[in-house]
Amino acid sequence: MEALTNHLPTSLKDSLPINGELYVGNMPLNHIEKLVSHTPFYAYDRQLIINKVTQLITTLPKEISLHYAIKANPYPSLVQLMATQVTGFDVASKKEMLLALQTGMAAKNISFAGPGKTMQDIEAAIIAGVTLHVESIGEIAKVKKIAEQLHIKADIAIRVNPAFELKSSGMKMSGGAKPFGIDEEQIAQVLMNLPLAQVNLRGFHIFAGSQNLNANAIICAQQQTFALAEQLITLTKKVTKLEIEYLNIGGGFGIPYFSNDNSLDINAIAGNLQTLLQQYKTISSNVEVILELGRYLVAEAGVYVCKIVDKKVSRGTTYLVCDGGLHHHLANSGNFGQVIRKNYPVAIGNKFITHKSNSICSNELKVQPALEQVNIVGPLCTPLDILADKVKLPKANVDDYVVVFQSGAYGASASPKDFLSQTQLSEILL
Ligand SMILES: Cc1ncc(COP(=O)(O)O)c(C=O)c1O
Repeated sequence: MEALTNHLPTSLKDSLPINGELYVGNMPLNHIEKLVSHTPFYAYDRQLIINKVTQLITTLPKEISLHYAIKANPYPSLVQLMATQVTGFDVASKKEMLLALQTGMAAKNISFAGPGKTMQDIEAAIIAGVTLHVESIGEIAKVKKIAEQLHIKADIAIRVNPAFELKSSGMKMSGGAKPFGIDEEQIAQVLMNLPLAQVNLRGFHIFAGSQNLNANAIICAQQQTFALAEQLITLTKKVTKLEIEYLNIGGGFGIPYFSNDNSLDINAIAGNLQTLLQQYKTISSNVEVILELGRYLVAEAGVYVCKIVDKKVSRGTTYLVCDGGLHHHLANSGNFGQVIRKNYPVAIGNKFITHKSNSICSNELKVQPALEQVNIVGPLCTPLDILADKVKLPKANVDDYVVVFQSGAYGASASPKDFLSQTQLSEILL
């Protein structure tokens, strides 16, 4: 248990503990349930998100622009909140693009990346004035054709698949053969053939990977990104006479999910960025440098909450069977890119216990409840539907809440909600 709750963000730890009941945004779970009418639900804490973004912006060099990658959590109220916190959005589909535009974010601060954009996606982006991050030579040809038809010059940036990869990353998205971006070695050729009457090349996008907790690996990738970007900016000037306006250096910042994970050292990353901005004057004096983050900004501000509907013992193992599971929270079940399944931090939401040792909160339960080891599962007829495996928690019963922390990113929208046509899911920003 100590390990499971060890990494909760301090602000969440501080807001937790009133009589052993979990609060989100100053509201106890049973009130949230009444608001949304049922379990399961995701609840996101507005203040935690604001705190996280503010802390990051304060730490980063002031020249760095922060964008939010909507794919991490596209819940409309949350995206609306992010529009007041960051200076731009990264979108991965036409629907995300429309969501971003509806917040009032200026189109020039919205970038549309991702392989496999359809003619309709490209058409909509050009009409809206959003910058298309082109991912292949074929995509450039499509953009040219549609821009010609629309008589609108398309704003584009080239997504580059660099030769290097982001080491220690949960998800590597560069280096070697990849469906993302245009290989670094092909960029000179692409620049020579760029249809300049139809496209305006604004920048480059180098996104190396996701969920990285190793600051040194991120620093190393950023050093390589700046070096490559400087070459590309110089090359662009030579070949096309164009001045590059922006450089999107991706992100990859991870958050701690598991007991051995440590929080990312943001100070080290910020210090390195400051050094890079001093070192690469071509970039720092003329080019907007954008950091695009999803998970890091929102993951720790969200919980997934479901209810125990059955408690049973099978050959000595106690199961808590809940009304929610894999279909709402695929990542927590271990089926969203994990090689070996590990438990996210979980708690019984109305019997939340705290530990003096890691000072999770000030108000401890007066009486320590009895603990028992349980397997927490969902209602789906598959052994993959796991919420937590072999965890020691306060003795729980039917109708108690099971809470999964660190659930604000890649939760609801990254899960197969219709699988087995189970109970509806709600989301709320508090
Ligand atoms: C192009 C791009 N930008 C941003 C992100 C967001 O990454 P994260 O949520 O890890 O910050 C991703 C994630 O895959 C991505 O592919």
